[in-house]
Amino acid sequence: MKTVNKQQIIPTTSARTLTFNIFRHNPSDPSSTPRMQHYQLAETDTMTLFIALNDIRENQDPSLAFDYVCRAGICGSCAMLVNGKPSLTCRTLTKDLPDVINLHPLPGFALIADLSVDTGQWMQGMSERLETWIHNQHLAEIDLSQVEEKMDPQKARDIYELERCIECGCCVAACATAQMNDNFIGAVGINQIARFELDPRDERSAKDFYQLIGSEDGVFGCMTLLGCDDMCPKDLPLAQQIAFMRRKMATR
Ligand code: FES
Repeated sequence: MKTVNKQQIIPTTSARTLTFNIFRHNPSDPSSTPRMQHYQLAETDTMTLFIALNDIRENQDPSLAFDYVCRAGICGSCAMLVNGKPSLTCRTLTKDLPDVINLHPLPGFALIADLSVDTGQWMQGMSERLETWIHNQHLAEIDLSQVEEKMDPQKARDIYELERCIECGCCVAACATAQMNDNFIGAVGINQIARFELDPRDERSAKDFYQLIGSEDGVFGCMTLLGCDDMCPKDLPLAQQIAFMRRKMATR
């Protein structure tokens, strides 16, 4: 492969020609109707879907809408359905996909346009409902000039493991309950509560946590279909966390 400039990449001679079938619709445009639009693109070495979409937008169709920020699997904004499977486009290599690639926006979120959805609004609503921050009445009394309190290293590692969630929305898009119940907090919400329940600085009681997730909109709404666990691009043990929290809630 030879790079000529930022916009133009010359494919290798053995490159496949990829066909992209991309969902197009802008709900804020009264003249727009949902449709599939087709594009063709020569595959290049180490091409990711993110690179392919940028190439299409730069060289074929500047009106194509999709999201990205980090290009490194960290921000979670590039998630979409790739051949029906929730995936991060910046972490998906085209060589791992067939010649025909179907792209749709993530279901379960408000559509902004084409492949762009408003996961931020959904995540903010979930966060406010579950109050995903440390509740500690003594925070105002903390003396910042003092050495900070130590946490058990294993506890810190366990919390960090749950904090690896990037809120991309793949688990919500893959969840049958979330698709049927708009109030379901999803694996992402249950994972958040598991994180704060573990944190010794959070003074919320078992009853407080039960009130947040001990219902059909929380842990008892999960049908254990494991879509969240299968589709999490960060390989978080979501099914294990849901089962763990459900057992805890069932005993309260
Ligand atoms: S662009 Fe940030 S996760 Fe893909």
